[in-house]
Amino acid sequence: MPSRTPPQRSADGREEEGQGLAARRVAWAVLQAVAAGAYADGALERELQRQPLGPLDRALATELAYGAIRQRQHLDGWLDWLGRVPASRQPPALRWLLHLGLYQLLFTARVPAPAAVSTTVELAKRGGLARLAPVVNGLLRQALRKREAGEGLPLPADPAQALALAQSLPPWLAADLLRWRSATQAEAFARASNTPPVLDLRVNARRSDPDAVQRALAAVGVQAERLPDLPWGLTLRGRSGDLRQLPGYGEGHWCVQDRSAQLIAPLLEARPGERVLDACAAPGGKSTHLAEAMDDVGEIWAVDRGAARLQRLARNAERLGLRSIRVRVADATRLATEEPGWVGSFDRLLLDAPCSGLGTLARHADARWRITPAAIEELQRLQAALLQGLAPLLKPGGRLVYATCTVHPGENRDLISAFLDQHPGWRPLPLPPALACRSAADPWLELWPGEGLGGDGFFAAVLQAPAA
Ligand SMILES: C[S@@+](CC[C@H](N)C(=O)[O-])C[C@H]1O[C@@H](n2cnc3c(N)ncnc32)[C@H](O)[C@@H]1O
Repeated sequence: MPSRTPPQRSADGREEEGQGLAARRVAWAVLQAVAAGAYADGALERELQRQPLGPLDRALATELAYGAIRQRQHLDGWLDWLGRVPASRQPPALRWLLHLGLYQLLFTARVPAPAAVSTTVELAKRGGLARLAPVVNGLLRQALRKREAGEGLPLPADPAQALALAQSLPPWLAADLLRWRSATQAEAFARASNTPPVLDLRVNARRSDPDAVQRALAAVGVQAERLPDLPWGLTLRGRSGDLRQLPGYGEGHWCVQDRSAQLIAPLLEARPGERVLDACAAPGGKSTHLAEAMDDVGEIWAVDRGAARLQRLARNAERLGLRSIRVRVADATRLATEEPGWVGSFDRLLLDAPCSGLGTLARHADARWRITPAAIEELQRLQAALLQGLAPLLKPGGRLVYATCTVHPGENRDLISAFLDQHPGWRPLPLPPALACRSAADPWLELWPGEGLGGDGFFAAVLQAPAA
């Protein structure tokens, strides 16, 4: 049984009284760091190094920090409703502390309401906001009374604004979602994006098998279940903490890969001995999957413009015992001119394009507050340039898979349709029947968070180059 962190001493020498105050302090620091521009996962890592926590407190800090970041828009709505000063004009330290308290009151079943209020007030006193502690106490108690009376946040009449506020989405995304999907589907997307993501593994076919991995994990008390339609997939139940410590990681028996991402490499149908290009490859989830599927026989070129990320790919391949992958740092839009010998030389080509990541909002708590429509337009230009620049590298009749982890049609089906219009002779290939019935837009693979598989949102198109 994991133990709670022993009581810590705060700056004024008093003991943290074993009520998870240290975990909440970490979460508060993460909220402040993210608001100042840090990435959520990096900020959490740094705070946990500064203030080491036991497994239970670490899980609590993670849940509170990521949860409150996802719910930022909704929690600001509560502050605007109940506070004397609108959220955007509150002193930042107070605003994010109130978010932490409100999140516990409104979204966590396991934190009793009195503990949510008292720990938040205590943090205010110890964290330089002693003068504002009565404000914190008053606002949280007011929220509690509203909740107990069954009153929810009043919503505007406009459907997009209401969705944005109720489900904590940026208003532009809520409006787009309602254009792309029905109101029910848009809400399902938002709910899934606000839920902690699943944690899936892909078993390395060359080193182990799912039953053996399940047994090894069960021996250390970790429950793993098989995933339907994914012969090498497992999902972990109720797990957080350092996965690298689990049995089989160091031996390369498995790697972490979301269930939706596990569907992409098989679409290439690569066979042993073939020459395959993975053009945006790092950190290598799909390159390594391809190598495993090809029995590690053949030549897989893993290209990426991020040198550090490619080093991570090389380490992953080594840990998994895969030798058919070769790495190369390059701008993939320019490969055809920089490597003329590669033109027309690949049997298969995977373009797992850089994208807005709208299918993985649950996994990246702060992503929705960073991405903008202008950045998405910029990404679309890059995606089109990558597709255009890479197409000549395929052999006649070769197979190209274009994939993203976004649900934005402009990065997905619209982009592919434009490519097909401009490239006569290229044609879309049908999905395998087991996938076609899961997709929202056959012949494209279109997976939406909140629908179907329960993993990330993903898109893939399988295209065939003209024969000679
Ligand atoms: C979605 S990620 C790839 C994930 C990877 N395929 C996997 O399964 O682990 C997109 C990658 O594209 C890379 N990238 C972005 N622009 C690029 C370019 N012009 N040329 C090559 N790589 C690029 C990024 O560095 C990033 O690693």
